[in-house]
Amino acid sequence: MAIIILFRTLLFTCITISYVGECGSLSDAQSLYAYITGSVNKYLRPESNQSEPTELVLSFHLKSISGLDEVHGVLYSALSINVAWIDDSISWNPNSYGGISEIKLHSSLIWVPDLILGNPANRISRIGLADVPVTIKSTGHVIHIIPDLLESTCDVDVTYFPFDSQKCVIEIIVVGYMSDIKFKVGGKIDTTHYSENNLWILASAKSGISDMGGLPFVRLSLSLKRRYSFFILNLFSPVLIMIMLNIMVFMLPPDSGERVGYAITCLLALSVYMTFASENLPVSSKPIPIVTYVLLVYNVKGFQLSTFLKKIPNQFTCTRHVFRILNSHQ
Ligand SMILES: *[C@@H]1O[C@H](CO)[C@@H](O)[C@H](O)[C@H]1NC(C)=O
Repeated sequence: MAIIILFRTLLFTCITISYVGECGSLSDAQSLYAYITGSVNKYLRPESNQSEPTELVLSFHLKSISGLDEVHGVLYSALSINVAWIDDSISWNPNSYGGISEIKLHSSLIWVPDLILGNPANRISRIGLADVPVTIKSTGHVIHIIPDLLESTCDVDVTYFPFDSQKCVIEIIVVGYMSDIKFKVGGKIDTTHYSENNLWILASAKSGISDMGGLPFVRLSLSLKRRYSFFILNLFSPVLIMIMLNIMVFMLPPDSGERVGYAITCLLALSVYMTFASENLPVSSKPIPIVTYVLLVYNVKGFQLSTFLKKIPNQFTCTRHVFRILNSHQ
């Protein structure tokens, strides 16, 4: 249905452009403007039967995900919303106005639905610019294109960092109207002009309709997957190598007297790297990423290894035995 409307829109636009070019003059547009502003009441919902809901056909174009703030749980997204509806109080015969079948008027002149975010992360404000031209057709079809940078809340779960995926929902409601408004969405969010985020892969983007106690709202569900290569290459592999080096302290002969020095050097190197690591871990206490515990345990182990080095090999005869075998092979 949305596609049909889109096609019809395109078709109308083409016809209109040719029409306007051929016949419509400025004075025709002026008399049409006077007719529209004189006949509409921008404060009334333009449905001829006021018991019937006004149907808003929405389509979405996702431009980019500008960021996901894990600490404050905020999703920044650049989105364009196309809203189409039929204004029953507007209709004209193009022949009476020099063939003009479509006109662009400022949104403050006619009734337009005010869209707001249902889950705002910042302050509540109307989506889009305050007063932009809307396209009105002679049949009463109105098309309002609303681009904006949205800041919505998103429950971020970093338990499995850096292999985590996040599900964020953007809720859109029409302020002031409950069941007087009926939404219609296509299901898919257009990502043709989506520009990739350098930290998150957009796995899926869907739109749907939900209801919150009689208040209908649109749900845009975005699935994001973290790009983990940076963390693997720069964070985990160096730490892992240092931990291995630290464990290899037992390869040194006990009598060489180098063990403690070696272990402490490893621990210091590890500590320096941990500072870098902690800067790149998500700052979150709810929930704490598992990897934070893992790194902590490794650090404590490294510390134990270097502090109680003299005692451990003597207490665990098994370990001693293993390393004696290792040493004998060298
Ligand atoms: C308006 O809509 C209501 C609900 O659909 C219906 O019962 C009523 O008959 C309609 N009135 C007119 C004048 O069409």
